[in-house]
Order: sequence, then C-alpha cells, then structure tokens
Amino acid sequence: MEIKSAEFIISNTEIEKCPAPNKPEFAFIGRSNVGKSSLINMITGRKELAKISSTPGKTQTINHFLINQAWYLVDLPGYGYASVSKSIKQNWVTMIDSYFAGRENLYCTFVLIDSRLDPQANDIEFIKRLGSHGIPIALVLTKTDKLKQSELGKSKNKIEKRLLEDWAELPPLFITSAEKKSGRNSLLDFIDNAIISNR
Ligand code: GTP
Ligand code: MG
Repeated sequence: MEIKSAEFIISNTEIEKCPAPNKPEFAFIGRSNVGKSSLINMITGRKELAKISSTPGKTQTINHFLINQAWYLVDLPGYGYASVSKSIKQNWVTMIDSYFAGRENLYCTFVLIDSRLDPQANDIEFIKRLGSHGIPIALVLTKTDKLKQSELGKSKNKIEKRLLEDWAELPPLFITSAEKKSGRNSLLDFIDNAIISNR
C-alpha cells in the first residue's frame, strides 16, 4: 500500500469524541516506550506525525490519524508505566477499556512488544484481555535493530512459546525496526488485505 496522505484528526480521552466509526480502524498499543509512536511514523513515512519521546508515558490520549482518506490509524497510550499515580493509571485503564469495547470499526490491534525483553507479565495479561473481548490482534516486535539475528530468533520463539500456553493458535507476527525502517511493507500489506477482505 502506498501512503498518499496521513493527517492527524483528533486527540482525546473520551470514546464519544473519537471520529464516527465509519472507516476501518487499526490501533497500536503496547507498554510505554515500546516504540508505538515511532512505528506509526515509520509506516506512514511521516517523521513527526505521532509524538515521540525517550521518556516513557509520552502518549496519554487516544490519537486518530486518517490515512489515504480511507482508514484510521490509532496511537494509544502505553500500559505498564510505573511512574504515574494510581489514579492516572486507573483513568488510562478505563479509557483504553472503553475504547476497545466501543470501536466496532476496529479491524485489528497491533500489540507491540520490545524484542529485547523476555515475555512480560503485563503484555501477556493485556493480550489475554483483548482475546477475551474477541478483538483480533497481531504482534509486532520492535527495536529489532538492537538485536543480532540469532537473538531475535530466540526472542520470537520465547514469546510464541509463552502465547501457546494460553492460545491454540498464534497471531500474525511482524518483525520491525523504526530505526532501520524494516517491517514496513509487510505491515502495510497486512492492513491492505484486512481492509479488502472485510469489504
Ligand atoms: P509512550 O507514548 O511513552 O507510551 O511510548 P511509545 O511506545 O510511543 O514509544 P516512542 O515511539 O515514543 O519511542 C520510545 C523511545 O524508543 C524513543 O527514544 C525512540 O527513539 C526509541 N525507539 C523507538 N523505536 C525504535 C527502534 O526501532 N529502534 C531503536 N533503537 N529505538 C527505537
Ligand atoms: Mg507514544
């Protein structure tokens, strides 16, 4: 898929203020600092579409971007960020839950996982929650430029082995690096196919 246009639409904390759910939507979520915003910029080829920071907890709202006038891409706040207060954390959980419960146009949620880390309890937990809501997911390993090929293979095996403890089938998995701009075509092809096959 060629990205002809990518525009920021709205940033908000309330599901009611999200754009009307009349176009296919793809959301990006994962732990704080995993590289969600960087990945969005990489796949859209727009350097500053989503805001990036080396400090975790940068994205705190639901951010809608309209791509090719045809589908929405959504940047969500990260989960598992230790340094915010309990009440803020609870607000985020409520916001994210209502997002997942309320977007009937959500085709797929990309769960980003840091390729350098062993499977993290909160990632596994989050994937389970999405599964129980019946939301289709795909996994995206991020920051793979930081790993050797052999290490990456091991990481992928570990996460898949862990998921097979809970699920009979593995979700699609993408290997990416925003730094090296790798994984872009496979991700965009996947989105393209999802849109076409749901038409
Ligand atoms: P929050 O919005 O805080 O939840 O974070 P996020 O998941 O959106 O992460 P963000 O894209 O802001 O990136 C966090 C940090 O990781 C930044 O310092 C990025 O430069 C860095 N980073 C993101 N992607 C990559 C990558 O592919 N490779 C490397 N080496 N660094 C990356
Ligand atoms: Mg972000």
